[in-house]
Amino acid sequence: MLKDRRILLGITGGIAAYKAAELSRRLVEAGAEVQVVMTRAACAFISPMTLQAVSGRAVRSELMDPEAEAGMGHIELARWPDAVLVAPASAHFLARVAHGLADDLLTTLCLATDKPMFLAPAMNRLMWTNPATQSNVSRLRERGIRLLGPGVGAQACGETGVGRMLGPLELIQGLAGTLTGDHVLEGNRVLVTAGPTREPLDPVRFMTNRSSGKMGFAVAQAAAAMGAQVTLVSGPVALDTPANVERIDVETAAEMQAAVVPRAGDAHIFIATAAVSDYRPLVAGDRKIKKSADRLQLELVRNPDILAEVAALPSGPFCVGFAAETHDLEAYARAKLTAKGLDMIAANAVGNGLAFDRDQNTLHLFWPGGDEILPTAAKTELASVLMRRVAERFHAQN
Ligand code: C5P
Repeated sequence: MLKDRRILLGITGGIAAYKAAELSRRLVEAGAEVQVVMTRAACAFISPMTLQAVSGRAVRSELMDPEAEAGMGHIELARWPDAVLVAPASAHFLARVAHGLADDLLTTLCLATDKPMFLAPAMNRLMWTNPATQSNVSRLRERGIRLLGPGVGAQACGETGVGRMLGPLELIQGLAGTLTGDHVLEGNRVLVTAGPTREPLDPVRFMTNRSSGKMGFAVAQAAAAMGAQVTLVSGPVALDTPANVERIDVETAAEMQAAVVPRAGDAHIFIATAAVSDYRPLVAGDRKIKKSADRLQLELVRNPDILAEVAALPSGPFCVGFAAETHDLEAYARAKLTAKGLDMIAANAVGNGLAFDRDQNTLHLFWPGGDEILPTAAKTELASVLMRRVAERFHAQN
């Protein structure tokens, strides 16, 4: 999988450093040449001798090391790899790289290399969700540095949550995906909407729908796995943010529009999977509606059509819509493709327990001049096939 690829494996100080030995061994088994660079803190968790044995190369850890510098100096070392993988990447290390510090060999190499960089964070869940870490992560992503994970699960500190380092095989797959050219959306910005919207009636009640957000989150994940820089604008859902995806949470259609439209001009591809409420209550008073008469009439007004607005932008992104219908699926889907001026539409049947809040789905894709049925599959798989078709048609047009 990684035959003759040169991987600079950075190891920083965290308990997950013990997994780096297995990772290094697996990288070698996958055909890679591995040069390990450890921070001082990493050496407190695992011995450089172990890493030397499994990688087959002397481990580097000091910047001011005359002997090592006489062999392969740090600038040469920064030029040597095809990719840099830092696993585990501690919160402190993410902060140092985000701020461009070069106070040891590994951070200096990160600053001096122009090769693809992959960081596998590993830390306590509160350290990961801390706004300081999240702001560092956003900075790193903006610079095109890829984060592999972290995953969710039991942590060495006894807690459970997000912050666990991905396993060696997952890390190698993530790395190989990019290096072997599977990244057909590398360099492209993809904007995705997902989930339902909530339209308030009063301070305690709202109108919404059954959308779970699963399809949109799977689409965002698939686009990120294909190398795209992904922004996911999501209504209220109970889902974890996929790795390498920037997420913006909104509630109402108006908030979704305000988050999407200013970003759409910059996006290459826009995928609207959100089940946006077509109407909202005309008045959403600041006092709770009290029960009185037997009948209560609500007046609703149309919400903005976010997808149609983005599709109408001059030199706007490649636009993909979704059409969820209980009947006449094909006719409605084709009509929406034309009416909203879309490049593609993915139609799915809803009602009778289909699609909404399910893990499986079936899609019928339409584009000007063609169509294709994507048979029933897990939403995650379906999203990968859909994103491949989107990438093909997008590249054919650009
Ligand atoms: O017209 P309809 O609501 O059926 O169109 C569905 C498509 O339009 C979906 O892709 C949905 O995300 C998008 N949409 C939107 N804003 C709306 C309504 C729908 O972006 N207000």
